Amino acid sequence: MAVRGCAPSWLPLLLLLLLLATGAAGARWRGEGTSPHLQSIVLGRCAEYITLLSPESRDKNCTAIWEAFKVGLDKDPCSVLPSDYDLFINLSGHSLPRDKSLFWENNQLLVSSYAENARRFMALGDVLYGRIGDLMSWCRQNNASGPDYQSCPTSEDCENNPVDSFWKRASMQYAKDSSGVIQVMLNGSEPTGAYPIKGFFADFEIPYLQKDKITRIEIWVMHEIGGPRVESCGEGSVKVLEDRLEKMGFQHSCINDYLPVKLLKCVDHSTHPDCALNS
Ligand SMILES: *[C@@H]1O[C@H](CO)[C@@H](O)[C@H](O)[C@H]1NC(C)=O
Ligand SMILES: *[C@@H]1O[C@H](CO)[C@@H](O)[C@H](O)[C@H]1NC(C)=O
Ligand SMILES: *[C@@H]1O[C@H](CO)[C@@H](O)[C@H](O)[C@H]1NC(C)=O
Ligand SMILES: *[C@@H]1O[C@H](CO)[C@@H](O)[C@H](O)[C@H]1NC(C)=O
Repeated sequence: MAVRGCAPSWLPLLLLLLLLATGAAGARWRGEGTSPHLQSIVLGRCAEYITLLSPESRDKNCTAIWEAFKVGLDKDPCSVLPSDYDLFINLSGHSLPRDKSLFWENNQLLVSSYAENARRFMALGDVLYGRIGDLMSWCRQNNASGPDYQSCPTSEDCENNPVDSFWKRASMQYAKDSSGVIQVMLNGSEPTGAYPIKGFFADFEIPYLQKDKITRIEIWVMHEIGGPRVESCGEGSVKVLEDRLEKMGFQHSCINDYLPVKLLKCVDHSTHPDCALNS
C-alpha cells in the first residue's frame, strides 16, 4: 500500500466527478487534498487519546503537538522530510506495551477493528502520533501559504511529500519502541503479494526493530473469506519476508488465517462454509 491513510476506492472517482461538475481546473496532484477541519481533528484526537495513556505520560500539550505537526503544512509540498516531524514525534511519543505491537500491510480496516482502540493490540494507528494522522491528508499549496484542499502529492508525484514523510517517521519510531512478541498481519489475497518488498513495513519498520528487545516475530497471513489464496506462509513474498527475518537473526513463525482474526472476518460472512464452527 502507498499511504497509511487509505481512502475508499470510490473516493477518487467521486472527487473527479465533483471537479468536473464544478468546472474546476484539473488538480495539480494525484492525492486527496487536505482534510477539512484538520486542526480541529488533530486537537480533538490528541485530547481524546490522552485519556488512554498511563498517568505518567498524560502531561502532553496538544497545542504544542499541533504546532509541531504543522511543519508539514508550512513547507513546500514536495520538500517535507521525515526528520521535519522529529519534534512532533518527540512531543507526542509514548512507550508501547510489550507484546502488543501489530504491524501490517494491506489490512488497514481489519487491523483497526481487531486492535480495538489499543484495548487488544496497539497498531500504529493506536499510538498517539499515528492516531493523529490516521486516514488524513494534508499539504500546503504549491506556491502559496495555506492548505491545498484540492489535492496533495502522493509518492508518484514526489517522494518528500508531507503525508508519506509523516508515516515514514512515525513507522520508524513505532518499530524502535516495539518490544516482546511482534505481530505482523499480511493479506494473502492481495494480488501483488502479501509482503510488499518495498513498503512501509519493509523499508521503515523492519530496519528499525531493536533486536535486543524483541523475543520473536509472528506473521499472520489472512485470506479473504472464500477469496483467493494468492500466497500463504512459506510462499512467494511471505517466504521473502521469512528469509529476511531469518537472516537478521529473529525468531519467527508464520500462521495462515490466525483464528481470532479469522473469526472477526467471519462476522461479515457468518453463513459462508469457511466460517462454520465445528462443535
Ligand atoms: C502548550 O504549548 C503552547 C504552544 O507551544 C504554549 O503556548 C503553552 O504555554 C503550552 N501549555 C502548557 C500548559 O505548557
Ligand atoms: C524528547 O526529547 C527529550 C530531550 O531530547 C528526551 O529526553 C525525551 O526522551 C524525548 N521524548 C520522546 C518521547 O522521544
Ligand atoms: C485484502 O486484499 C484484497 C485484494 O486486494 C482486498 O480486496 C481486501 O479488502 C483486503 N483485505 C483487507 C482486510 O483489507
Ligand atoms: C512560485 O512563486 C515564485 C515567486 O512568486 C515565482 O517566481 C514562480 O514562478 C512560482 N512558481 C510556480 C511553479 O508557480
